[in-house]
Amino acid sequence: MNAIEIRGLSKSFRGMYAVDNLNMTVPQGAIYGFIGENGSGKSTTEKLICGHLVADKGTVKLFGRDYTDAGVRVRVGALIEDPGCFPNSSVYQNLMMQAINLGLENRDAEIRRVLKIVRMENEANIKFKSCSLGMKQRIGIAMALLGDPALLILDEPINGLDTDGMRIMREILVDITKNYSCTVLISSHILGELEKIATHYGIIRQGKMIMELSAKEMDSRAQTFISLKTKDMKGAKVVLAGKFADVRTEDEYIRVYDACDPETVVDLLLKNGHVVSEIRKNRIGLEEYYIELMSKKEVK
Ligand SMILES: Nc1ncnc2c1ncn2[C@@H]1O[C@H](COP(=O)(O)OP(=O)(O)OP(=O)(O)O)[C@@H](O)[C@H]1O
Ligand SMILES: [Mg+2]
Repeated sequence: MNAIEIRGLSKSFRGMYAVDNLNMTVPQGAIYGFIGENGSGKSTTEKLICGHLVADKGTVKLFGRDYTDAGVRVRVGALIEDPGCFPNSSVYQNLMMQAINLGLENRDAEIRRVLKIVRMENEANIKFKSCSLGMKQRIGIAMALLGDPALLILDEPINGLDTDGMRIMREILVDITKNYSCTVLISSHILGELEKIATHYGIIRQGKMIMELSAKEMDSRAQTFISLKTKDMKGAKVVLAGKFADVRTEDEYIRVYDACDPETVVDLLLKNGHVVSEIRKNRIGLEEYYIELMSKKEVK
């Protein structure tokens, strides 16, 4: 069963479509990276899923049930934009207020549980306003985790974090999916960071989903290539172009796209009198793939 299944979802503001006939499929247990440029409709889609906005048309199913179903709503936790915390209250007090709001029982135990997941057991008594940005983001996630949701929706939770903050966030998200059977939908434009954890991707542009693919599919699409340098770059390129279909010169390197074995390349060049001074096997990551996709694909 899919955690989220959206078909033909549209939402307009003053006659402009922020979400335009969008389809989305998020399998259960996935960390789904929802990628798009500023203003592409990520937050609006997430608000529609959470019921913070009402759609013009389309269907949203969560775990096979309509998103308005009360039984399914309690299984959704979300952090969209601000967690809405009180600055002068402590981390614990903020979580307690939310736990009361949600009508949770065993509130103290539940707060301790979520604080442990976000690694803030020892910071429960700090005032919210004294927390660092990284801590605030984690408190937001803790708020969303109250009540043990099966689906967590996070809007740019890694925005503005430093390398360490991002690493902790990544570890928390993997922990949530692996050990708490939670599906995570996470929007971001920091692609390199998503690449390390996402199992699936959805790419949105101008309110339309232009592509959905698994990390495995992304891997197979992301090309590998060999880049190398020789003294006679022009001559070497001619030799390589005689054997391989896709040979380009970029950034002062010759790139061979359809040969995955550096030894074959070195051998061929040596036999033709070219000594390779530098060679490396590279992979086009999500970021480059995305930029290429964005520059190529026109939205109809
Ligand atoms: N409440 C609103 N009223 C009017 N227009 C809105 C509203 N919310 C969003 N929009 C518009 O809808 C479009 C999509 O916005 P949205 O916030 O969903 O994009 P986003 O992908 O989340 O962008 P960002 O990366 O900047 O967060 C934008 O053009 C935005 O100006
Ligand atoms: Mg947004």
